[in-house]
Amino acid sequence: MSKVTTLHEFIMDRQADFPYASGELSRLLTDIAVASKVVSKDVRRAGLLDNFLGAHGSTNIQGEEQQKLDVIADNQFINMFKTGGEVCGIASEENDDFMPFESEFSKNGKYVVLFDPLDGSSNIDVNVSIGTIFSIFRRQSEVGTSATLEDMMQSGAKQIAAGYVLYGSSTMLVYTTGKGVNGFTLDPYIGEFCLSHPDMRMPEMGRIYAMNEGNVNICDPGIKEYIEEKCQTILEGAPRPYSGRYIGSLVADFHRNMIKGGIYIYPSTTVDPEGKLRLLYECNPLAFIAEQAGGIATTGHERIMDIEPSRLHQRVPYFVGSKKMVEQAMEYLKG
Ligand code: AHG
Ligand code: MN
Ligand code: MN
Repeated sequence: MSKVTTLHEFIMDRQADFPYASGELSRLLTDIAVASKVVSKDVRRAGLLDNFLGAHGSTNIQGEEQQKLDVIADNQFINMFKTGGEVCGIASEENDDFMPFESEFSKNGKYVVLFDPLDGSSNIDVNVSIGTIFSIFRRQSEVGTSATLEDMMQSGAKQIAAGYVLYGSSTMLVYTTGKGVNGFTLDPYIGEFCLSHPDMRMPEMGRIYAMNEGNVNICDPGIKEYIEEKCQTILEGAPRPYSGRYIGSLVADFHRNMIKGGIYIYPSTTVDPEGKLRLLYECNPLAFIAEQAGGIATTGHERIMDIEPSRLHQRVPYFVGSKKMVEQAMEYLKG
């Protein structure tokens, strides 16, 4: 058996990639890994534990019903960030407003984290893959002061690191610091994330499309045309049409497309004119990973990471995945 590289070893080895790095980002990534192991343990046993499945009885600012595990995961990550010392504040999909950490210890943190603690909430109770998505920025405000809204509202191009944890058939952590993408599988027997997917590349072209097709008649008619002509028609030289695969957890649909090649579409609809997915907690971090792996992420008209956010919980239409597929889909858009 060849030598196993743990996430911790990998992070430490890569620290040299950042001149003058003081190790804080490394510690922050390690903290995220630890929190996600705790969440993974809860997810794995959710059906057996009291008070883990089902609705929490509250709604978030976006009017969505919170699940108990949404709240549990949110608190787990927040507590880790509050006690780690690298982070001066966070913004999470589950909280109305951003949260500056007011202790002197945290005010000296250089980073802010924006995250979706549990993506795919509607899949929790039916035992289907869910995940955590995170985005890390250097703060804009002065170290030693309280974190500000401006620290949170930076364009995706300024991300220092981003990643996701997928609680799937195994638990995986995938992240980038802007030097490629690497994936780690949690070995439950030793409790460590181990390098399993070095230097991940998203195929330029794939044969999978992921969209909630219930929306196909309430969005840009070009999308229906794209799906009918390019995904559902047998093209010359192809064995059969593309496969439609829609898990309903963005993080899981994205991960599958990262490995196999594919496109994920959540467009603007007449019901949700801005789309459904959140720029800061979902679209930006996965856009950074997609680009680092050779894929692309756009609203259909604009690169996701170029958007200057206007609201914390801003939503945007989202086309992400294999480069050629996303480019082709964009050619069909009319709006
Ligand atoms: P969340 O569970 O964090 O609220 O996100 C759910 C998102 C995304 O994960 C998924 O792809 C999409 O919503 C599913 O939406 P539809 O049910 O409208 O297809
Ligand atoms: Mn989500
Ligand atoms: Mn969520």
